[in-house]
Amino acid sequence: MGLKYKSMYTPLLNTHSILRYFVLVALLLVIIMALMGIVNKKPFGKWDNKFSLYLLIFTHLQVVIGLVLYFVSPFVKFGSETMKDKFIRYWTVEHITAMLLAVVLITVARITSKKMTDDAAKHKRLFVFNLIALIVILASIALSHRGIL
Ligand code: HEM
Repeated sequence: MGLKYKSMYTPLLNTHSILRYFVLVALLLVIIMALMGIVNKKPFGKWDNKFSLYLLIFTHLQVVIGLVLYFVSPFVKFGSETMKDKFIRYWTVEHITAMLLAVVLITVARITSKKMTDDAAKHKRLFVFNLIALIVILASIALSHRGIL
């Protein structure tokens, strides 16, 4: 990538770094609200829907920024060193794979739960899929060796 695009690197990395907290907080809130919904047998309300939408928006924004970063990051490299160097391998292969998996889980949780008519089933779908996504994201960030927070 040319010099012109390299200047985008730092602002994009900072945005991606800060947006992680929006994703994590929204994810936690959706998981807690779904759990409360299951335990207290609550109907699936307006806020349950709104928070799962915010989560989807933050997450998809994170993917768009991540994809641009992927092409300007000095840690993403394709060549003989890709799999040998653990940092290059992490950013070139592992981060994108794990995060996209988590994003698919978050997206599928929302789309499939929207189609359900039973409120308990909606809460359960959001709880299980988003909990797995949270574990995948936290494990992946931990593997980056930059610290989760
Ligand atoms: C929920 C989704 C995601 C989360 C929570 C997340 C989180 C993070 C975090 C915490 C960092 C380190 C930032 C720092 O050191 O300041 C990072 C960096 C990065 N992420 Fe993501 N990410 C996500 C999705 C993605 C996706 C889908 C891609 C690629 C398509 C991607 C590509 C990158 C790249 C290239 C870097 C920069 C590595 C560097 O140059 O230092 N991320 N991400």
